Amino acid sequence: MQIAPSILSADFARLGAEVDAVLDAGADIVHFDVMDNHYVPNLTFGPMICSALRDYGVQADIDVHLMVEPVDAMIEAFAKAGASMISFHPDATPHMHRSISLVKDLGCKVGIALNPGTPLHELEEVIQYLDYVLLMTVNPGFGGQQFIPQSTDKIKRLKQMIETRKLSTLIEVDGGINAETIKQTYDAGADIFVAGSAIFNAKDYKHSIDSLRQAVK
Ligand code: DX5
Ligand code: ZN
Repeated sequence: MQIAPSILSADFARLGAEVDAVLDAGADIVHFDVMDNHYVPNLTFGPMICSALRDYGVQADIDVHLMVEPVDAMIEAFAKAGASMISFHPDATPHMHRSISLVKDLGCKVGIALNPGTPLHELEEVIQYLDYVLLMTVNPGFGGQQFIPQSTDKIKRLKQMIETRKLSTLIEVDGGINAETIKQTYDAGADIFVAGSAIFNAKDYKHSIDSLRQAVK
């Protein structure tokens, strides 16, 4: 299992130190939530912050979750800024296949992100090109929301879809993941676990990351 703290809940005034702290505490991936006040009703940070983290010395994979519309210009900017993984939502681009190819051509891992209300059949024609699928387990836009319980069944159905096609696509879950909700998503087949508030709102990051790992046992 890979733990990906969402820096949406970090102290932005000390962002470099916050990222160092979660990586020292055992996090695997840095989850970077990009919001444009258009695709979602909130505004966060762009490629300059991503390249600033690289310049600061962050070596871990940076997992860019684009909640922006349109996506192609941001894909190019984030690949240049040092992103390792880039996901976007299918309803944020008129040409999903072209945007997927763009991410891959720029040397990043590619994922499609699905909102709770978006059906899995959106993946039908493209799943074979994806490194991962990001399943939103809350509606996108804000940290600190409650996990939507119906998501567990959707994870199981996605896992089945991947296995039937004999693919090695990873499943990333994002939203409301904490020590109480993580086990059902792990048992259902998730591989990468994004957690924002459950990690950054705790005093001891190592303790909160260890608790997430313990909770699936
Ligand atoms: C929501 C973001 C999530 C969010 C997760 O739009 O995609 O990554 O920050 O935050 P928590 O873990 O607090 O639900
Ligand atoms: Zn996210």
